[in-house]
Amino acid sequence: MSAAATIATAPATATGTTPFRHFSATLLRRALARHADWEHKEFTSSWEDLPVDAYLKGGATFRRRRYSQFHLADDRLVPSGQIVFEQSKEVNSLFGGVQRRFEPLREDVAASALLETVVFTFLDNLPGKIDRSNAAIGVHQIRITASRDEASLPAPEGIHEDGHHFVAQVLINREGVTGGESQLYDRDRAPIFRTTLLEPLESIVIDDRRVFHGVSGITPAPGATEGIRDMMLIDFFPLAG
Ligand SMILES: [Fe+2]
Repeated sequence: MSAAATIATAPATATGTTPFRHFSATLLRRALARHADWEHKEFTSSWEDLPVDAYLKGGATFRRRRYSQFHLADDRLVPSGQIVFEQSKEVNSLFGGVQRRFEPLREDVAASALLETVVFTFLDNLPGKIDRSNAAIGVHQIRITASRDEASLPAPEGIHEDGHHFVAQVLINREGVTGGESQLYDRDRAPIFRTTLLEPLESIVIDDRRVFHGVSGITPAPGATEGIRDMMLIDFFPLAG
């Protein structure tokens, strides 16, 4: 069996590397096998403890999230303290230029060995290079709730870029929902890849400078009144200064 669990990559470009990689759950499942069951449960259940994203328009409550930033020191993941999350207007027409302050990751989650394993697994599998000595790492925990009364768009910005170098999009859980198709586009906004992350720990890692991305809305599955889609997003970008 191949060590790499890649199941799809875009065609190589002139730069010699592909602008995204799509991994089955096998990549993270293998990496996380060394962690105890209680570590997995504690990590996954922390998505039950996310505050509502106060920045959504009109008091909408369908998105809950936490965010913390880290850096690397001596091959360890080190919390950088509470830092505002800000994107430029150029990359985020809805929230660009706004300093958003989200609740940080819970301390036990931020300090967990399991999170460190996840981050280093993606560092080893980026679709390109990053200077680890100068890398900032943003970790978002996000829950989108689909209900019959509220439109639930995982990415209200539509087709967009995040303004980072690389972003790992990891499915943690989905229950009772349909939709949530991940869509990638080239720099001319022509579609190049689409898939729906279905299996927990399945992931896509993009070079955010070379592709745009979007996610279709989610609705409760037939017969369900409500459903959830839990994601972890990991941003990789150079430290400022
Ligand atoms: Fe995004």
